[in-house]
Amino acid sequence: MSVTVLVGAQWGDEGKGKVSCYLARHADLVARFSGGNNAGHTVVIEGKEFKLQLIPSGVFYPDKLVLLGSGMVIDPAGLLDEMEKLQKGGHPCANVRISALAHLVLPYHREIDKIQEQSRGKFSLGTTQKGVGPAYSDKSERIGIRVGDLLDEKRFLERLQFNVEVKKNRFQGLNGHVDVKAIAGSYQEYAKRLKPLIVDTSKLIHDAIAKGKSVLCEGAQGMMLDLDFGTYPYVTSSVTTAGGVTTGLGIPPAAVTDVYAIVKAYTTRVGQGVFPTEDTGSIGQFLQEKGHEFGTVTGRVRRCGWMDGMVLNYGKLINGYTGLVITKLDVLSGLDEVKICEAYRAGGETLTDFPIDSAVFQNSAPVYRTFPGWKEDISNARKMSDLPKTCRAYLSFIEEYTKVPIKYVSVGADRDAMIAA
Ligand code: GDP
Ligand code: IMO
Ligand code: MG
Repeated sequence: MSVTVLVGAQWGDEGKGKVSCYLARHADLVARFSGGNNAGHTVVIEGKEFKLQLIPSGVFYPDKLVLLGSGMVIDPAGLLDEMEKLQKGGHPCANVRISALAHLVLPYHREIDKIQEQSRGKFSLGTTQKGVGPAYSDKSERIGIRVGDLLDEKRFLERLQFNVEVKKNRFQGLNGHVDVKAIAGSYQEYAKRLKPLIVDTSKLIHDAIAKGKSVLCEGAQGMMLDLDFGTYPYVTSSVTTAGGVTTGLGIPPAAVTDVYAIVKAYTTRVGQGVFPTEDTGSIGQFLQEKGHEFGTVTGRVRRCGWMDGMVLNYGKLINGYTGLVITKLDVLSGLDEVKICEAYRAGGETLTDFPIDSAVFQNSAPVYRTFPGWKEDISNARKMSDLPKTCRAYLSFIEEYTKVPIKYVSVGADRDAMIAA
């Protein structure tokens, strides 16, 4: 029996989808525990690219169950669209199941997301505008509508009418944008199509654990976007940390056997918020161009900079990483030198513990350790000994600094461009 959790160790887009797809081969069940279609997980299988937003990467293996857990917020139109695209690409999606307890994203959530972003002015967050924040707000306010409600037409309509009244009173800009009848009609249509997939996903997981099977939990977003432990308020609205498997899938904490940090070999961030190692000069540009760092969901250019060890060690405390998966190492090839931030300087002091005070974090400047780079193309490396010595020295330092072993190194977008350490 194993329960392995994959956590994005930075600000998202670390390559979770690729790693999940690679590891899913050895799992019986793959589940997502949080977020919605604000996520964009790109998977490349034998040169064919798939962009997943809600469905975990296990979908490519028809013999594994793939679950959309109760901690998620689900836009049914987005989900059906994603399923259609996968089906056209030869993946039937017959193995997908959705938690009846997950919350629905409704069309007005997307409108509210836009209205809120506009009204925040200089405090805007740079959200993906997928309505994810407003859907989670409804959940906390206990007026949300859940996936299971789709199965009872009367109950769904009652809740929708009530919810829309609340929203119209609160958001003047919403009037005229919400047509209850049209929403009810389209959601009943979605209900018909999704009904066979709506189940108690926790039970499926508990049964799998009881039978000694392997469960892989695919995180969304990243540690630093976590609602509690991330760079609040520049975060997403869900639990992105390893604890999300208990709150978002119903997995008892003691059942978790491994927590893997998915770590990009450099750092990227989309949206607003402090990012100490951001490089707005030539290095940032190199990483952005070579790493094709554009947001999957919004097409925005991702901000880029060196790896931040402070963030990794902070994430280790919160998530209890048992292993690291380093991704996009191939992108660093060609640089004369590579750097890792090993401390911050703030207020005349050197910090080696992550500052949870946002004012201190805001003024933190990175202290770098510099390593010689490597020029070789490493994308065909399939064992550690294939990597240049300088590259291995960089990896060894990451292990030494975090005191967490590297389990895998990804050297290309394709599912199988991976080194098992
Ligand atoms: P996720 O949100 O964590 O799943 O990451 P994204 O899919 O948003 O972004 C990662 C991007 O890098 C995708 O386009 C992947 O296809 C690509 N990718 C993943 N691993 C590697 C790698 O090791 N090397 C390269 N060059 N690209 C990778
Ligand atoms: P994956 O799973 C990167 C960011 C947004 C914004 C903030 C809040 O692909 O790693 P939201 O729409 O969630 O309210 O936006 O969070 N964000 C992500 N950044 N990768 C993601 O997911 C993200 N999901 C949300 O850019 O800064
Ligand atoms: Mg992504």
